[in-house]
Amino acid sequence: MARITGSTILIVGASSGIGAEVARHLAPGGNRFVITARRAPELVAVAQEIRAAGSDCLHIAADALNPQAAADVVAAAAAEYGTLDIALLNAGQGPDMSMDQVTVDDVSRIMALNYDVVVNYLIPLIGQMGSQKDGGLIAHTSSLAGLMGIPRQGPYSAAKAAARTLIDAARVELAPRGIRFTTIHPGFVATERISEDGLPKPFRISQDQAARHVVRALEKEPAQAYFPWPTATLVRTLRALPTPVSSLLLRKLASR
Ligand SMILES: NC(=O)c1ccc[n+]([C@@H]2O[C@H](COP(=O)([O-])OP(=O)(O)OC[C@H]3O[C@@H](n4cnc5c(N)ncnc54)[C@H](OP(=O)(O)O)[C@@H]3O)[C@@H](O)[C@H]2O)c1
Repeated sequence: MARITGSTILIVGASSGIGAEVARHLAPGGNRFVITARRAPELVAVAQEIRAAGSDCLHIAADALNPQAAADVVAAAAAEYGTLDIALLNAGQGPDMSMDQVTVDDVSRIMALNYDVVVNYLIPLIGQMGSQKDGGLIAHTSSLAGLMGIPRQGPYSAAKAAARTLIDAARVELAPRGIRFTTIHPGFVATERISEDGLPKPFRISQDQAARHVVRALEKEPAQAYFPWPTATLVRTLRALPTPVSSLLLRKLASR
């Protein structure tokens, strides 16, 4: 049984992959879920699993790229359950993109898909949780790729890094109001959508393993959570090395 029980939990990006799996892990805890994503049929199926496991669930098909739609989801969650204890901002996408082939529009699109989708929920959530006596936890599924510019994932790395930086500032500013922030940095996770992108995926973990790490982060609320440890150690080591050395190693890793 999960230790998060009787809580109101918003998961943005819950129709598949890590977000859906986290919902499944927390569903036996008698929680109250609001799950959202764009694909309604997938969302309905996850909502049915959550209810069958013993939690309440409101599911709302909405595009996180639309600021008004995101604000409406937060308002609907508050109207349904009164308060929001935990929000997991998990929507995002990182296709393989070489810098000599991307267009300006590609880079802007990836920024929107991984940064705007966070901002569009972050601001209304700060408003909502700031009005709650006990504040709340806002968690973001970033990526180890957001800690440095990963070859063939440059636009994605940049977007995740931007969201992490914004959240780092919010964490410091909003601690007095009881709003806590956790940035979660997974390495490669064997979700359906990333399995066919052609990128090398060292130390890949399963969706179930990733969800366990995310649930632990939601329980313990570290400022930053990194997993799995081999990829996290590799990225930290690359960051500590002189740039010419790390560039050489990254080039070798990316060409494998
Ligand atoms: N898999 C990995 O190796 C890995 C590694 C590090 C970080 N991550 C991050 O983990 C998160 C989850 O990814 P995943 O691997 O589990 O892939 P996924 O199965 O594609 O999950 C992404 C979720 O976000 C939703 N989403 C995407 N764009 C959206 C939008 N505009 N509005 C609302 N919902 C949106 C998707 O649902 P709809 O399409 O139905 O909208 C889906 O529920 C992402 O932020 C990803 O960057 C993944």
